[in-house]
Formats: sequence, C-alpha cells, structure tokens
Amino acid sequence: MRRPFIAGNWKMNLGIKEAVSLAQEIGIGCTPFRSVDVALAPTTLAVDAVNEALQGTGVHVASQNHHESDSGAFTGAVSATMLKEAGCAYAIIGHSERRTLFGETLDDVHNKVHSAFKAGLLPILCIGETLEQRENGQAQTIVQEQLLSALKDLSADQIAAITIAYEPVWAIGTGKTASPAEAQSMHAFIRSLLQERYPSFVANDIRIQYGGSVKPHNAKELLSQPDIDGALVGGASLTAKAFIGILTAITQG
Ligand code: 13P
Repeated sequence: MRRPFIAGNWKMNLGIKEAVSLAQEIGIGCTPFRSVDVALAPTTLAVDAVNEALQGTGVHVASQNHHESDSGAFTGAVSATMLKEAGCAYAIIGHSERRTLFGETLDDVHNKVHSAFKAGLLPILCIGETLEQRENGQAQTIVQEQLLSALKDLSADQIAAITIAYEPVWAIGTGKTASPAEAQSMHAFIRSLLQERYPSFVANDIRIQYGGSVKPHNAKELLSQPDIDGALVGGASLTAKAFIGILTAITQG
C-alpha cells in the first residue's frame, strides 16, 4: 500500500517571514493527517527557517531546484548538498517551468536526479507534456522520454524511492485539470513503463503524484484513481485553508 504524498510547491512566492508563518499554520493543520506524507517547497532563501518552523510536525521540506554540481564556480547556484544541510528531505527536479523558462534539458534533469541522491535528497521528478504535444498525439512519447532519460543509470532501489510528479503543462496554473480518467490513464502508462523495465517492486512502490490545478474540490476524485498516489500542488498550497482542505478531502471516507 503506497502512502499518499502531498507536496506544496510555493514557486517564487512568499518571502521568509510569510513562508515561516504559512509553514507554522500548515504544520499545525497537518496534525490530524498522520497517514499522509506532506512536504513544502519554499523559496531557497526560506528553506532553513521553514525547516525550523516545521520541527516536530512531521512535515518535510523540499527544494525547488538545485545545481547538478556539488560546489564550484557557478555564480548564483545552490547545490543539493547545501539544500540537504539547510533541512531539505526532497528535491523537486525538472519542473516544467524550469524546462521551458530556464532551458533545462533532459541531461540536466538526469544529472540533477543523480546529484540529489548523492546528497541524500529524495527526488520529486516532474514530467509532463504541453498542450500542443497532447493535441499532436505525442503525450505518451514525451512523458516516456522524460521519464526514462531521467532514470538512466539508477538502481532499482533508487528508482523505487523517487516520487514521479505527472504535471501536464496545460493544467499548471490554468484552473484546467486533467480529468481523473485522463490523469489515471497517464499514471497507469508511467507505471507500466516501470513494470516492463525494472523488478516489480519498483512499479509497485513508486509514488506518482498528479500536479496541475489540484484544489480541495477535485483532489478526492483525482486521488481515488488507483495509480494516483498524491499531488504536487501549486496555487492551492499558498494558503493553509486550501492546502489543509486538500488533505481533508483526500482522507474523508
Ligand atoms: P498549480 O497547482 O497552481 O496548477 O501548479 C501546479 C504545479 O506546477 C506544482 O508544481
């Protein structure tokens, strides 16, 4: 049985004070939901302070991005090792905003997955097609390419420990979610790709989150699908009411 995993990606929102205050509110609000894994990804600047604020709550901190190298002359960059030291447990990697706005390539994503493991961070690997790719019938091909290139050269144990976040680009921040059936179909496809290539515990254990306009009103139906194990939440993670609303919705009988 896979434990549900809900992660909030705050993107470039909330300064340090706001991030700490929301983390405190969410940390307290999460107390009744011990059957769900929860993580929050604040701006890098706030990782340390948010980690402090979440002590004792069971809520983890995730990074939003890191440089693939451990240290060196990479002005402005932050390494996975630094993020681990600051309190991160998870590393979001390959978000579509990184791929499209910052030009991250398949190789970059692959290298970041490896550097996250080396530093002791568990990757949350984002994959997903654009609207144009979906309309051209390329959704599965794109998702397969993004998935398999990122997982190259990892052990089966490492792959099973990754969280995949399927985020169709056309559903991010648009208020337009994939229907539960559309999302389930892609999640089942992702799991089948793993099933064909790795020992069966990998496909059984790996958690696949859905991301793209997840809100309290649609979370339960999405997470009721057999291959949807959690959510990567953007906009609705920016208030405790909406984020806790998602946890409440998915744990209701
Ligand atoms: P929204 O929930 O705002 O659509 O964002 C999804 C996302 O990009 C999470 O990483």
